Amino acid sequence: MKVIGFVGSPRKNGNTDFMVQQILKGAAEEGAETKIFYLNELNIKGCQSCNYCKEKGKCRQQDDMTPLYDEIASADGIVIGSPVYMGYMSGQTKLFIDRWYAFFQNPVSSLEQGKKIALVFCQMNPDETSYNTTFTSLGQMLSSLFGLELKGILVAGGMKDAETAQKNNELRQKALTLGKQLAR
Ligand SMILES: Cc1cc2nc3c(=O)[nH]c(=O)nc-3n(C[C@H](O)[C@H](O)[C@H](O)COP(=O)(O)O)c2cc1C
Repeated sequence: MKVIGFVGSPRKNGNTDFMVQQILKGAAEEGAETKIFYLNELNIKGCQSCNYCKEKGKCRQQDDMTPLYDEIASADGIVIGSPVYMGYMSGQTKLFIDRWYAFFQNPVSSLEQGKKIALVFCQMNPDETSYNTTFTSLGQMLSSLFGLELKGILVAGGMKDAETAQKNNELRQKALTLGKQLAR
């Protein structure tokens, strides 16, 4: 069982990083091998819409996304964490998710069906329902296009400073529980 996490915030040790780490910790407590990747530290270019992947089954671009394709393909569980920027995921996260287009082989994904996925979003807004529509549609898109089993979308609201999540025990528990679900 392998569970991998992607942090889409530029702030290392910030809220998103903490939440992804806690989810992975929960997965590790269930016996999973875990790995974490910091998207902001990677050179991941935007999808070029060249459709090379539709003919060849893999992305033409050679950058830091190249090894991540194998990491994703060999994972049983995946967590993607992003801060909310302008009511949406961060740019770092969006570049990464667009590159999943290489897995999309109409009508089915080249990924093995049934991998588990969890999403976590951190936001300043204390109302955790504010961006529900956005988060839900992202979760539905990922699960339907790539045959993933969505285990949960965790929203951390009221993240006033970089350490807010770390001080919230309830949030930590929710993250650990979600991580355990990813690894079962
Ligand atoms: C460019 C930018 C845009 C933001 N837009 C929003 C927003 O639309 N809604 C919101 O609630 N918080 C917004 N925030 C606040 C962040 O979501 C919040 O600080 C979050 O906890 C950051 O996560 P991090 O600690 O992992 O970096 C924004 C922050 C930045 C830097």
